[in-house]
Parts: sequence; C-alpha cells; structure tokens
Amino acid sequence: MKKLLYIDACIRDEQSRTKRIATPIIEALKQKYEVQTLVINDLDLSIVKKELVTKRTNGDIDPQVMSWAESVRDADRIVIAAPFWDMSIPAALKNFLELCSIFDVTFKSDDKTCYGNCKAEKMLYITTRGMDIDTGDVLEQGSSYLKALSWLWGIGPLEVLSAQNMDYLSEREIEERISRAIFEGLKIAEEF
Ligand SMILES: Cc1cc2nc3c(=O)[nH]c(=O)nc-3n(C[C@H](O)[C@H](O)[C@H](O)COP(=O)(O)O)c2cc1C
Repeated sequence: MKKLLYIDACIRDEQSRTKRIATPIIEALKQKYEVQTLVINDLDLSIVKKELVTKRTNGDIDPQVMSWAESVRDADRIVIAAPFWDMSIPAALKNFLELCSIFDVTFKSDDKTCYGNCKAEKMLYITTRGMDIDTGDVLEQGSSYLKALSWLWGIGPLEVLSAQNMDYLSEREIEERISRAIFEGLKIAEEF
C-alpha cells in the first residue's frame, strides 16, 4: 500500500474547525493509503537557531528529526491541515518544516541550484481562515509559502482546500462551510 503522511497542525485540537474538515477526508484516504500521522502539538520541536544549524552543517542531526524528514521524503502523498494564523501557517508548523528541510534528505543541490528529493506527487493543504481572504490573495501567505517549499522539496502540485470568513459568520453558516469543505475534500480524495 502507498504511504500518505498526514501533518496535523490543528493546534486547537478538538476545538479546531480545520480538524473537523480534515478528519473525514483522512479517514477516506485510509482506504487507499497507509497513513502516518504526525500531530504537531505532540512533537518536541527545537527551534532552528545557530547551534542547531551548526550541528546540522556538521552532519549531526537528531535521529527523531531525521525520521520526520525521511517520512516527508518517502511519502507518496502529503496532507497538511493547519489553521490560518497571522496571515500564514502556525509557527509550530513552520518550525517542523524548517527542521525537515535537510540537505540530501528533502532536497539536494548541484553546482548551480537546489532541487527536490521528495517522492510525493501531490500535496493537499487544508485550512480555515478567520477573515474573508481567498486562497492566493496577497494577504494569504499560507499557500504561497507551502507552494514554494513544495517546489524546493520536489513535491508535486499543491491543492488547497479552504473555508474562510469563519470568525464572522453565524453558527449555521459556519456549519454550512464546514460541510461544504468536507464534501469538496471527499471529492479531492477520490482523485488524490
Ligand atoms: C493565534 C491565532 C491567529 C490568527 N490569525 C489570523 C489571521 O491572521 N487572519 C485570519 O483571517 N484569521 C486569523 N485567525 C483566525 C483563524 O484563522 C480562524 O478562527 C480559523 O478558523 C481557526 O482555525 P481552527 O478552528 O482550526 O483553529 C487566528 C486565530 C488564532 C487563534
């Protein structure tokens, strides 16, 4: 069975609307993929600062971090679920991704430039936004960042599933948006 890596960055956990959308989609994908889930809240993430960069340059990489990076490298598909925070993704997720950006693991380089070393042909990013901001809007720095990073890592096209204006709608409208996103996500899952 092919492998799917699910990166759950729904920091508010059971209160998370993003998680409510992602969970049934991941359940559907379990029919087709062996799913490995990494819950960002549960990971012990060191911040990438001078000491860590120096160690990494010297090939001294924490085995746990290496295993996460290898999971990213070897997955056939990747799904990231994360709320829209401060116009982008939560810092904890950025931190995780920075830790996994390891030369000769998730990317390589020749004498001119970097190129990707990951297997996944598709990546799905599931998100909800408080304000009424569209995917691809200049104010929306979540999908643009993930698109750029997936290019660096050689991961195929990024598909974005979003629900927006969630902090300014009635309860009924919020529920409608969640249901619609699940419906759209299940359709994406059929082809994913
Ligand atoms: C720490 C934090 C930062 C947020 N930053 C933004 C933001 O910059 N722009 C925005 O539209 N919504 C922002 N929101 C609102 C969330 O995007 C929105 O409530 C979303 O549905 C939360 O997802 P969740 O229910 O999965 O946690 C923020 C919420 C939190 C808790």
